[in-house]
Amino acid sequence: MTSMLSKWLRTGLFALVFGLFSLSAPAFAQGSVNPTAQSVKETQLFQALKPGEALAGRVSIPNKAAGNLIQPGRDWRAYNQETLPKIGAIAILGVIALLVVFYLVRGKIRIDAGPSTMKILRFGAIDRFVHWLTALSFLMLAITGANVTFGKKILAPILGPEGFAAWASFAKLIHNYVGFAFMVGVALTFIIWVKDNMPSAVDAKWFAAAGGLLSKGSHPPARRFNGGQKIVFWSVVIGGVLMSISGWHLLFPTAEGISEAQFHATLHGTVAFLMTALIIGHIYIGSVGMEGAFDAMGSGEVDLNWAKEHHSLWVKEEQERKSGSRISGAAQPAE
Ligand code: HEM
Repeated sequence: MTSMLSKWLRTGLFALVFGLFSLSAPAFAQGSVNPTAQSVKETQLFQALKPGEALAGRVSIPNKAAGNLIQPGRDWRAYNQETLPKIGAIAILGVIALLVVFYLVRGKIRIDAGPSTMKILRFGAIDRFVHWLTALSFLMLAITGANVTFGKKILAPILGPEGFAAWASFAKLIHNYVGFAFMVGVALTFIIWVKDNMPSAVDAKWFAAAGGLLSKGSHPPARRFNGGQKIVFWSVVIGGVLMSISGWHLLFPTAEGISEAQFHATLHGTVAFLMTALIIGHIYIGSVGMEGAFDAMGSGEVDLNWAKEHHSLWVKEEQERKSGSRISGAAQPAE
């Protein structure tokens, strides 16, 4: 009995001493070496996934961006993948819908007095070269740029993965190089036409009469460019500058932080769709929507009756300036 009791006592004592040692050992180890004490906590990682947050450490190599563990990007991704396609679709389909309604209500805008046998030089070779340089480069950029936002949804199912990959890499190449032609076009557009696009009291009257676009036989006076055309001009110049600056940052991003690149991508995409919508309206009026308008950028000579109806003050100025020498008899009517 006594020996049994002393055996239990010895076992109990051993268990107590062993227990005390095993409890104190980790505490002792933590105090001296803890390899994970400085590491990122899981809660911090989750925090950094929130919009606008980032997680960065320090690196000793020149590329400081390599220290970024989690980039701020969720806001931008949501804008780029959800909001921007909505803005693009609403702007483009919206303007097309408006033009269809306008065509159904107003029809093609005709020369009210009918075509004349006389023509007047509206845009010389330099004007037309600058216009088509800007216009064609913009159209190429609009198509190849829209591919970034809509291509995967619309074209990939039609072209298949290989076909879409080939088209998308071709489109990217075109976009990167044609951008420079557009920048030159915008700069030249500004230089050659800015003097004729300064706002004036004549424009206020033109807008008050809605440009005469809504009713037949109504033609508010205008100089070389009317109020609506001045809106197109300044949108192309200001929009073109914004597109050029943001596009340049996207082409050459090496010295940038990720937030700046995201800012420029957002600006680039948004301005692009707004400009595209406006230019669709411009193309309609400059081609099928108005009798005699295209000649201005085609041959450069427009029907005299067209010019008198849409740019009466300009025709007067031209006739006074050149004493009628720029107005020539023409075998063919304007259209
Ligand atoms: C196929 C496409 C296009 C056609 C048929 C077209 C047609 C025209 C025509 C006929 C004019 C002269 C209007 C007049 O005599 O008063 C004009 C002017 C002009 N175009 Fe275009 N254009 C096209 C594309 C573009 C594009 C893509 C841009 C710029 C991104 C552009 C920018 C301008 C500007 C700034 C003017 C002077 C202001 C104005 O008349 O609105 N055009 N265009």
